[in-house]
Amino acid sequence: MDKIRIVGGRPLEGTVRVSGAKNASLPEMCAALLTEKPVVLRNLPEVRDIQTLGRLLEGFGAEVECRVGGIQEIRARDVTSVEAPYELVKTMRASVLVLGPLVARAGRARVSLPGGCAIGARPINLHLLALEKMGALISVEHGYVEASAERLRGAEIHFETVTVTGTENVLMAATLADGETVISNAACEPEIEDLALMLTAMGARIEGAGTSTLRIEGVGSLNGTDHAVIPDRIETGTFIAACAIAGGDIEILACNPAHLRAVLDKFRETGTRIEEGPSNLRVRAPRQIRASSITTLPHPGFPTDMQAQYTALMTQASGACTVTENIFENRFMHVAELQRMGANNRVDGRTALISGPAPLSGAQVMATDLRASASLVLAGLGASGETVIDRVYHLDRGYYRIDEKLRGLGADIERLI
Ligand code: EPU
Repeated sequence: MDKIRIVGGRPLEGTVRVSGAKNASLPEMCAALLTEKPVVLRNLPEVRDIQTLGRLLEGFGAEVECRVGGIQEIRARDVTSVEAPYELVKTMRASVLVLGPLVARAGRARVSLPGGCAIGARPINLHLLALEKMGALISVEHGYVEASAERLRGAEIHFETVTVTGTENVLMAATLADGETVISNAACEPEIEDLALMLTAMGARIEGAGTSTLRIEGVGSLNGTDHAVIPDRIETGTFIAACAIAGGDIEILACNPAHLRAVLDKFRETGTRIEEGPSNLRVRAPRQIRASSITTLPHPGFPTDMQAQYTALMTQASGACTVTENIFENRFMHVAELQRMGANNRVDGRTALISGPAPLSGAQVMATDLRASASLVLAGLGASGETVIDRVYHLDRGYYRIDEKLRGLGADIERLI
């Protein structure tokens, strides 16, 4: 099984390019199920989750042609199967994003329940309630969700909790429903705005993209499109954190600073110097990292997907601070691993209390989920001596060649195969 070995203490220098956003690419690949016409997606990150979803779409009868440079052409001329099997769904929760498109296009879907994961229970009850309100008949049996509807109808959907993939599922389903759907308390993440942009280019009628109220007027059919995925804001934030913890001066290219407002503000509070260009960032590490507390919130708040990386940085900050996780109930698995490297932190309910700076020393650590893995890589960069991270497949699910990219910035990092 792959491991990553890091020898810490080397400042980062040079430029790094950000890949396309995984969490925009996944719903956008699923949106290709809504039309019989070809859909071309550009700037897809070539990460494990994208490959897994490609296999899932092929299972429904779609042709998925992967070209060099993160381009895919997906054509779902006919939907020949509507079953998303447990073997694929269990490796990637985002598979649930096929539910809305399949019911809208084929009138039926049979999707394995994703189950919990390392960061929490993660139910999909809100996706199901919304689709039921749109007229789908839903049953859950033998670990599978079965949904059917001759044609979905528009409805008023109020999400009691902000849900990203729930909003995306309903948005996609509503494009082909009969009449108007209004989604209130919708998630406002940039990935949803990008999905709405793509669907609009396919002929969907959507108002309010990027706000908490979406209005969708269903249409009879959708066209193909050619769409470039937005840059990955979490990968961008991870490189900012890498520079802040390792020291140095880097430029991040092909990113979108406007999608990272809360993250940039917070890193500036830690003393990290950040200059913004239209699609690039210059990041200079603080001489002394200042402690500053965060609370994760739905967009435009501080993203939960940056919490673990920020926690790693705070172990090296002067002073005490708290990191409060509001989105997932169990997203602190990295805290214990950071402790093993010398961090002075502990978890109390939904809050991690961190007091620093506590010098980190390299150790053997284990990745438990995607972002926790990233936080261990960052800790390794800031630690003295050698860190070996096990279970790197978590990292490969969502970061495209992070080891190569960091090596390009001068980090002493290698993959042990
Ligand atoms: N929730 C429910 N019922 C539902 C849906 C959600 O109770 O039916 C709860 C969840 O348990 C959670 C909260 O609502 O407590 C928010 O979850 P959300 O549905 O927004 O999460 P998600 O859509 O499953 C996406 C990202 C995650 C990211 C979260 C929050 C994708 C493919 N995944 O998950 O990304 O953390 O939104 O921003 O877009 C990652 O990339 O590492 C990752 C986990």
